[in-house]
Amino acid sequence: MSSINYSEKIPNNVNLSEDRTLQRALEHWQPNYLSWWQDMGPEGSHGFDVYLRTATSVDPQGWAQFGHVKMPDYRWGIFLNPAEQDRKIHFGDHKGEAAWQDVPGEHRANLRRIIVTQGDTEPASVEQQRHLGLTCPSMYDLRNLFQVNVEEGRHLWAMVYLLHKYFGRDGREEAEALLDRRSGNDDNPRILAAFNEKTPDWLSFFMFTYFTDRDGKFQLCALAESSFDPLARTTKFMLTEEAHHMFVGESGVSRVIQRTVDMMNQLKTDDVGKLRAAGVIDLPTIQRYINFHYSVTIDLFGADQSSNAAIFYSAGLKGRYEEGKRTDDHVLKGQMYKILEVQGEGLVEKEVPMLNALNEVLRDDYITDSKAGVDRWNRVIDKAGVQFRLCVPHKAFHRNIGTLAGVKVSPDGRVVSESEWHAKVKEWLPTDEDRAYVASLMGRVVEPGKFANWIAPPVMGINRQPVNFEYVRFN
Ligand SMILES: [Fe+2]
Ligand SMILES: [Fe+2]
Repeated sequence: MSSINYSEKIPNNVNLSEDRTLQRALEHWQPNYLSWWQDMGPEGSHGFDVYLRTATSVDPQGWAQFGHVKMPDYRWGIFLNPAEQDRKIHFGDHKGEAAWQDVPGEHRANLRRIIVTQGDTEPASVEQQRHLGLTCPSMYDLRNLFQVNVEEGRHLWAMVYLLHKYFGRDGREEAEALLDRRSGNDDNPRILAAFNEKTPDWLSFFMFTYFTDRDGKFQLCALAESSFDPLARTTKFMLTEEAHHMFVGESGVSRVIQRTVDMMNQLKTDDVGKLRAAGVIDLPTIQRYINFHYSVTIDLFGADQSSNAAIFYSAGLKGRYEEGKRTDDHVLKGQMYKILEVQGEGLVEKEVPMLNALNEVLRDDYITDSKAGVDRWNRVIDKAGVQFRLCVPHKAFHRNIGTLAGVKVSPDGRVVSESEWHAKVKEWLPTDEDRAYVASLMGRVVEPGKFANWIAPPVMGINRQPVNFEYVRFN
């Protein structure tokens, strides 16, 4: 079951050839997907040979094979983790019953919505990143960008498989619509706000893959608990691909910081003007990018109180992060959770039923996880002997969803007046000037082993190849 059949038009480990109707439906969708990739995939890249990893099996050990491939020939397909025998539902009102191998009628609309919302983010990020290859800081980074892009394409396949196999005609229509929406398009935008933002430069790309792909990880972890077994199995395999995306983000930001602190030591200065004249990205600008990407991303978890979140959990559609490792009753009725709200001059905690606060529970787990990487970035700064600390802003800062939407809060968590916000926002969020400066650094560096001035080389290459390996052949 775990080995992947590459002899078929659509690589898969789900015995696709035994389900002719499904196979035909997916083969009908495939050319539309490829034409979307031609139009919206990485600009100007279709003839390149890229050193990509491709899944050969879904075993946790050695699933990947590396080799130079043209991206339009990448073997996108349908890969599910092996079924767990006699898997039981382990949370919500159906706890203890057998996991569903098909979609129960009463949960059909909600499950479809969950799958479509997840599916929509995958092509959106490819669209957001499609121009970045033109300004890559190195061949190594260019290859990483392309690896992320092809895997997001495969994640779309993962969701489309579920739509086609389990949701009949509506599912097929949704699968087409996933190829029609466009990130940032006014008439037909992607579903979630963060996926309509631009990813205009490589600092944004690294922040996006660190923060926003990590939102992906938490959503996928919650869906990997689902009672709908095919969804649980497909998201488990997607998670193995997601880990690399967050690595690209964390190591990317880390290398930007490394280069900056090296220059600070070389010039013996923390003067922003001097550092910019030397062509590196000053730490306060990096902090403002963190503030932006973090706040936009934590909005993705949704409103802090949500009756839908309660329904999704109690019905067994979506669990908590690491549901199986928790020691409570996995039903949560009568349990409470603290959320934040503004009262008078300040933020106060308020207890609400946990079932309604499950978006907040997932957001808080995300926050803990994303802080850990910021601590690792601080170690790079400490090691260089520089006095500066990066941090994530308060969770009430710059929010646009739920109780905290539109409330003016500083990054350190003070409720501030409208006038203080306007006076200080240029210290807290990237300014037009910051973005223009970062944009001015973006130039294409593609000679093997060479790196743009604003970023340090990685410690090692991909798949134990040297850093100066020819990761992309331009032909
Ligand atoms: Fe993804
Ligand atoms: Fe991702």
